[in-house]
Amino acid sequence: MIRPLVCATLVLSLAGFPLEAADARDAARLAALERLVHDPQPKVRLEALRSLGRIQDARSAALALEVLDQPMDPALDYALWLTINELAEPWIAALESGAWKAEGHEKQLAFALKSLKPEQVSRVLGRVLNERKLARDGSGPWIELVGEAGGAKELGALYRQALEGGFDPAAAARALTSLDNAVRNRKTRPDGDPKAVRTLLDSTAPEVRAAALRLAGSLKSLGAAELRLDAFAGTDAAETVRNAAFDVLRSLPAAEAGPVLSKLASAPDPTIRTRAVATWAAIDLSAAGPAVVTVLKSLDDEDRAVAFWRSLLAVKGAAKSLTPLMPESGLPAAAARAGMRAAREGGRSDVDLAAALAKAGGIAADAQAFTGQWIKDLAAKAVASGDPNRGEMVYRRTELACVTCHAIGGAGGRVGPDMTSIGASAQPDYLVESVLKPDAKIKEGYHGVIVETKDGQTVSGTVVRESGTELVLRSPANQELVLPKSNIEHRTTATASLMPGGLLDSLPEADQVDLFAFLSRLGKPGDFDASRGGIARRWRLANLVHTDVQNGKEDWMWKAAPADRRWTDILSRVNGDLTRALMEGGTRADFWTAKLAVLAMTEVTTATPTRATFSLQAGAAAELWVDGAKVTGPVDLAPGTHRVIVRIDPTKAPEKIRLESKDVSFRLD
Ligand code: HEC
Repeated sequence: MIRPLVCATLVLSLAGFPLEAADARDAARLAALERLVHDPQPKVRLEALRSLGRIQDARSAALALEVLDQPMDPALDYALWLTINELAEPWIAALESGAWKAEGHEKQLAFALKSLKPEQVSRVLGRVLNERKLARDGSGPWIELVGEAGGAKELGALYRQALEGGFDPAAAARALTSLDNAVRNRKTRPDGDPKAVRTLLDSTAPEVRAAALRLAGSLKSLGAAELRLDAFAGTDAAETVRNAAFDVLRSLPAAEAGPVLSKLASAPDPTIRTRAVATWAAIDLSAAGPAVVTVLKSLDDEDRAVAFWRSLLAVKGAAKSLTPLMPESGLPAAAARAGMRAAREGGRSDVDLAAALAKAGGIAADAQAFTGQWIKDLAAKAVASGDPNRGEMVYRRTELACVTCHAIGGAGGRVGPDMTSIGASAQPDYLVESVLKPDAKIKEGYHGVIVETKDGQTVSGTVVRESGTELVLRSPANQELVLPKSNIEHRTTATASLMPGGLLDSLPEADQVDLFAFLSRLGKPGDFDASRGGIARRWRLANLVHTDVQNGKEDWMWKAAPADRRWTDILSRVNGDLTRALMEGGTRADFWTAKLAVLAMTEVTTATPTRATFSLQAGAAAELWVDGAKVTGPVDLAPGTHRVIVRIDPTKAPEKIRLESKDVSFRLD
């Protein structure tokens, strides 16, 4: 430690710096830390970062940011965030004086900005962006950073550039979205004429039209007619634009949106009609009532009916107002069943509505009929003659929704308890009762809460987390809902289970017997033991087609997010096999024909640099690819998430795919 001290003191003295003793010590420590920040060991880099935080100097901030030149991990990320937080003021001073230059350090700058307080970011952005325009293609982090942290002036500059056609369509859409976030989340409006956004509604690029609509909706500067919402919602060719139009309609006052929605409620396209009526009901339930009934009479697809009912019942007081409107008879059974399910899920028990629906749909009544003897008999049959393999397929049916709420081996929803070892830990009678009469015994920790919001919504679910300002619920559809506490009017604990009753009402007894045979085997040794890790359970399937290759777009498979529409989501069986039958069931019928390759994608994570060995069963013709390269032996992985794709020759479809590795974690989300 002595030598660096001498050197640094010498160098700085020669440069004409009058040195105090404390400065000299800092300089020496900085020189030593400069080396440690670049050390190959992440642990050493971490320690170096924390020491830098204690030296209040622009040079230590600049050094700390250099840690980004090497791979990061969550611990380093957090340490750097803390350090920059502590060194914010000296770093900003260096930036303002020009001693620290943003050019060539965009990544460091972006990280630093995300670590600062909003008022600090606004200062920095004003300084860095100055009068400069952003790149046409919107490269770099600037567009989003301005939205997250810019003041009216910086937002105004972004707005102007978008209005003047200074961006490519994709970048223009990002700019408008970023402005929209600033208006909605931070209540900060861009300088400039708020009506001018109208010109972008005529853009030929659908993403620009959609983003412009949303921004116009948030700015509230144009009326429904000027926004041409009826045309955008009803006839625009792009789904993104229609979605945006419906979202804007929903945010408008009933007097303005009502007439548009009532017109759309008789549109020729049934999905538009359904959507319009659901939106109308959300803003003016009594006016929309008759249209609701008309839509229900036309719904015979249960999934769509459940979605429709859920959006209806999210409106405060909806069950009560809709009950008297239900017809005496003549409602399609699917629409009625869907309503009964929605009325009983999420801890609500809108009994009157469920009863009215049972009648309207001609469905036999209710759970109360399941006596103790009934339950015992069904459990005994399941044990004696149930087929657990068939039962697994029953469990996976989308209309039963078990998978949406429950996970096995970590794969699946998290609204209800994990089912991995339910068969080993619970008696068959208990399983049958839990499913037929969910309200009989509610599992500890799974009581739901029901929240009424000040803007007229009723939402329910389990508590994911809670802070002083926010409550986060997991809805019965397995989505996280973030509720600002300032918007909560009333909150109660549900007395009914979040699991809806009546799920098996329309399931033949043989299927019920198999389902319970399956549940009672879960967690016992053999084919239904999902407790072992190291196996891929969550897959996404897609086809590689000739045009991908002709257009040089073959690399989409490494770029498209897992949620991208080209991927079809599918879980393996409990034992880890993704069978051919499952693949065919989960995709289009022509899955194996006339394609270059069938792709099965999964993702893995590693916490440290890892040499990973994969074991793949997928027939002789399958290839294993990792992060864009074909793999035949062990592969070296940096810490982070990696994409693994099994590439299958469609003429040699395998009976199953199975991928294992003890060296990595397979992602389940
Ligand atoms: C809307 C979400 C939801 C759906 C759909 C759902 N469940 Fe549940 N389930 C829950 C919740 C929440 C609990 C815990 C509360 C309770 O005990 O009632 C639960 C509890 C259970 C239990 C008891 C678990 C225990 O450890 O006590 C079983 C068994 C069960 N569900 C099976 C099923 C099956 C089989 C299906 C499909 C036919 C299904 N569930 C559909 C949410 C759901």
